[in-house]
Amino acid sequence: MNLENRTILVTGASRGIGAATARAFADFPVRLALLARSMDRLQTLATELSARPGVEVLPLAADVTQPAQVTQAVQTITEAWGNVDILVNNAGVGMRSPVGEIDTDLARQLFETNYWGAIHCIEAVLPGMRSQRNGLIINISSIIGKRAMPNAAIYCGSKFALNALSESMRLELQPHNIRVTTFCPGVTATDMAEFELTGDGRRHSQNRMKRTPVQVTANAIVRAVQREPRDAYATFFDRIFALAATLTPGLMDRMLARFYRRQPD
Ligand SMILES: NC(=O)c1ccc[n+]([C@@H]2O[C@H](COP(=O)([O-])OP(=O)(O)OC[C@H]3O[C@@H](n4cnc5c(N)ncnc54)[C@H](OP(=O)(O)O)[C@@H]3O)[C@@H](O)[C@H]2O)c1
Repeated sequence: MNLENRTILVTGASRGIGAATARAFADFPVRLALLARSMDRLQTLATELSARPGVEVLPLAADVTQPAQVTQAVQTITEAWGNVDILVNNAGVGMRSPVGEIDTDLARQLFETNYWGAIHCIEAVLPGMRSQRNGLIINISSIIGKRAMPNAAIYCGSKFALNALSESMRLELQPHNIRVTTFCPGVTATDMAEFELTGDGRRHSQNRMKRTPVQVTANAIVRAVQREPRDAYATFFDRIFALAATLTPGLMDRMLARFYRRQPD
């Protein structure tokens, strides 16, 4: 999609991949709606980005787990600028918990954000996209939504579910000229581990892995919006990881088992 003068809604824009993606979109003359719960952070980012030429910014405090708040936020965008052209469904939380120690309340909370939150945002923007017969929805999943990892069954499950949602929607929405892309970042350098829904206080193993700079992931998201592939990745390694997971699952099992024996945390 050509980005010029588009109305773009980025969820989870207060920090991490969402904030970096908003910065990358602001290289173009666009209308950017930034949604998250932390209004102070959104406002700081909005002030920074609205100084860019041709960029308009609307910070919106909303919790994606609350459909009424999401609907209200989209209504505010529509009143200010018209329909949303591009939805970047990025808001998400992590969770580390071995099977047998899963806190089901936290697990449900995670699904409320990562899966249902995405659905609430999609349902809020769809009527506008349908009426203008144009739109792009990009769901931010994960490479571990292609191949699950130990101690992350719930988080991975939410991303597998998001991938299923993308696949199903892609065909459903084709007649309305609404396109759907699944973007799968690998381990990216953000503070996500600080905000994990975890009861045991242990840090996620991603801290020991090589992390992709957040701006690399953000730039890849913007490229995916411009090119609209079915699935998109931030790095060549992430793409190969997803391919190997599909083509050689047994080999992946053995490699991951070795890795986790060496680095159990
Ligand atoms: N970092 C990685 O290694 C990695 C890898 C693969 C996939 N991902 C995915 O990429 C996305 C962004 O991750 P990140 O690393 O940028 O995480 P992050 O730094 O923790 O940022 C998460 C964002 O989501 C927002 N958010 C969380 N719960 C929300 C809710 N209920 N309502 C509205 N906004 C909410 C947060 O804002 P507030 O707290 O202000 O609401 C924040 O802006 C997530 O979907 C994650 O699963 C990340």
